[in-house]
Amino acid sequence: HRDLLGIGHLQTHQIHYLLDEAEQWVHLNRQPKKHNDALAGLTIINAFFENSTRTLLSFEIAGKRLGADVVNMQAAQSSVKKGETLIDTAVTLNAMRADAIVIRHGSSGAVALIADKVDCPVLNAGDGQHEHPTQALLDALALRTKLRERGREEFNGLEVVICGDILHSRVARSNALCLTALGAKVRFCAPPALMPEGAGEMGVDVFHDFDAALDGAEVVMMLRLQNERMKGQFIPSPREYRHLFGLTEKRLERARDDAIIMHPGPMNRGVEIDSNVADLAGRSIITDQVEMGVAIRMACLDVLTRRSRGVPGWDAQAQK
Ligand code: CP
Repeated sequence: HRDLLGIGHLQTHQIHYLLDEAEQWVHLNRQPKKHNDALAGLTIINAFFENSTRTLLSFEIAGKRLGADVVNMQAAQSSVKKGETLIDTAVTLNAMRADAIVIRHGSSGAVALIADKVDCPVLNAGDGQHEHPTQALLDALALRTKLRERGREEFNGLEVVICGDILHSRVARSNALCLTALGAKVRFCAPPALMPEGAGEMGVDVFHDFDAALDGAEVVMMLRLQNERMKGQFIPSPREYRHLFGLTEKRLERARDDAIIMHPGPMNRGVEIDSNVADLAGRSIITDQVEMGVAIRMACLDVLTRRSRGVPGWDAQAQK
């Protein structure tokens, strides 16, 4: 487990371990001075071949708060634009002796390909439609924090609806893997054209009717339409989509009275989620998700660089 390529590569005790490790960083990040020298002297490269606000910034902040030297490579300004291949780019980053490389790429499997060519840990910051493991971990931490506030310790039996463009969503995939591993019951809801074939084999219940999916839900996670990934699928107009699959105040009444509202961002307000729902005090944890993103990425960078820092690896410390 040198790399973090996907939730599918983690055992349940490792998911718990990363969530527990992140708690100390949540605490640090709430102090006026947010600094720890755990990664001092290390170089972290964030190589982003796709746009990002939350993931790129939070990985950068995470590395800096842990004392590492962090550099960002934006593909749009790199030699990728001159035709350099992914493997040559990976070999180039490796020659600079990075201690960890964080990669976002538009193609599923691209991050694993790079991991195979470099000597340091690689963290997947989202690869195509495959996985976005740190998103699922930060979602789990934000949710666990909210549940604990309400006196609930465990995810066991928690009814979670994930609604939106499931077909193109690495967030849905990583969250389904993570939440089911933690004991939650996940329902996927999407128009038929935006539901992957065989989704039911992931251990989730499949719905095409959002009202039915919401019945008794304790958590509702909304996803945007990924128009940039559509390949001929029928996309309803924003108005039609909101009518059928948008989380409105009225529709939310079908879920449990205190149902928790989540969205990984970026949001399209008024399409998949209405503003009065996205900003619902005490119920929406969307900004908590962003806050937890920094702490989770600190935990992942810390844990994955332990071997190179001569600190016992996480498997030695995680409870089996
Ligand atoms: N949730 C998420 O991955 O957001 P960004 O695309 O802004 O990083």
